[in-house]
Amino acid sequence: MEHYFTNNENLKSEIKKLSYSYDNYVFSFLSDNGVFSKERLDYGSRFLLETYLRKKKSDPTSFLDVGCGYGFLGISISKILGVHGTLIDVNKRAVHLTKRNIDANEVDCEAKLSNVYDDVVDKYDLIITNPPIRAGKSVLLDILGNAKDHLTKNGECWFVMRKDHGVKSMIKTLENSYICEVIDKSKGFYVVMLKNKENSLTNM
Ligand SMILES: C[S@@+](CC[C@H](N)C(=O)[O-])C[C@H]1O[C@@H](n2cnc3c(N)ncnc32)[C@H](O)[C@@H]1O
Repeated sequence: MEHYFTNNENLKSEIKKLSYSYDNYVFSFLSDNGVFSKERLDYGSRFLLETYLRKKKSDPTSFLDVGCGYGFLGISISKILGVHGTLIDVNKRAVHLTKRNIDANEVDCEAKLSNVYDDVVDKYDLIITNPPIRAGKSVLLDILGNAKDHLTKNGECWFVMRKDHGVKSMIKTLENSYICEVIDKSKGFYVVMLKNKENSLTNM
């Protein structure tokens, strides 16, 4: 079975144009067959973005969007906050679309191919992700559990996950290494913020 994260170079291209506005910012995104949420912006991603913008506790100087798809989260944050973003995905078509969307929306971002953090070298104030549920628990744990290795000292990881996709048990697991805070909930989606427990304890 084909998933939105598999690289199928033979898949016919059918570019679609999606738009999004937030305050006075207007965005346009190209999407295509073979990428996540190709027909419309995903509700969970919008909820994550808008919750983050409303409730963020600090202003990041850099951020990483893990599993960027066609770039919705990263491109919007970069434009609205005026901050450099690094956007990564394992899906080649998604990275290609993200590069086109970065240019079209005139934002200061870079997009690259990476399997989880394999090609990530820097540390970031913010990691934001709508993680790929269908990729399985080990990929989810890799993205969320290892985020702390790619965060700056007071960095934060924000993610969205549905209750019926196991967000509560995921939080329980993550509590071994993070302070976890459920920031908001809507229609079964939870937005969760993670802070590295070790750094938070040394700040006390
Ligand atoms: C739920 S989608 C979110 C897409 C985008 N951030 C959005 O909000 O529309 C998850 C993304 O993770 C990507 N992905 C799946 N497995 C991955 C992996 N091992 N490493 C990096 N990205 C992965 C998928 O290709 C997909 O684009």
